[in-house]
Amino acid sequence: MSETCVSVETWFAAFFAGHGVPTATDAVRMELKRFHCERVRDEALALAGNLGLSQRHRTLAAVAGLCHDVGRFPQYQRYRTFSDRQSVNHAILGVQTLNRHGALAGLPRRDRTLVRTAIVAHNRHSLPPALASGGDQEALTLARIIRDADKLDIVRVMLDHFNTPGEKDPVVFLGQPDLPGQYNPVMLETVTAGRLGSYADMTSLNDFALLLLSWINDMAFPWTRQQFFARGHVQALFAQLPEQPQLAIFKKRYFEYYAPTSF
Ligand SMILES: [Fe+2]
Repeated sequence: MSETCVSVETWFAAFFAGHGVPTATDAVRMELKRFHCERVRDEALALAGNLGLSQRHRTLAAVAGLCHDVGRFPQYQRYRTFSDRQSVNHAILGVQTLNRHGALAGLPRRDRTLVRTAIVAHNRHSLPPALASGGDQEALTLARIIRDADKLDIVRVMLDHFNTPGEKDPVVFLGQPDLPGQYNPVMLETVTAGRLGSYADMTSLNDFALLLLSWINDMAFPWTRQQFFARGHVQALFAQLPEQPQLAIFKKRYFEYYAPTSF
């Protein structure tokens, strides 16, 4: 058994089981999110352990990790998309869902607030200023853990799909077309400048790979950046991109600037 609250694990399993969908394709997409929730729980636990956090904080990391994408299930059931832009903010939907079901009832009030805060913050382009200011260190650390854990696992999911032969699932790739050799120069400019890529600037799968590479700018902990390289994610994302001079320059700079010394 993981370090997650047993009551939350039990609730999560029952909640997922209650989200039947009509087709096998729908079921694959829902399972992808269920497994992602479990992986983010495990990544968050590993990160909290690496940071030497207390048992209570490790449990909170596990609970928030498992529950961070609970909103994906009702989102998909209602709208058949994982695109927030085309439906609703799945983080807010997730917190509303947890509240309605009393899923966090086994936690003290303060811990419930910490988990909800981390979930609401997990999909924001950047951390809300009130949280980033550090007035509440516990809340800030938990939100950072979930954002880092989520990024690591989303990259795993996307690479799995990038590397699966055949047609790309438009729901997983948020409708981005596979246009070999094409990318949005605005996206390259953004990521080269060390900023986070924006979903609004995506025009193709290559832009998606660039966006994922840009996430290193928003990884809060050295452990996460180290894992991003050590697991081969950075290398695999660059392997998705076409061989073009501008992209080769970007890759060289990226490794020079971000790679841990052992790479
Ligand atoms: Fe999410």
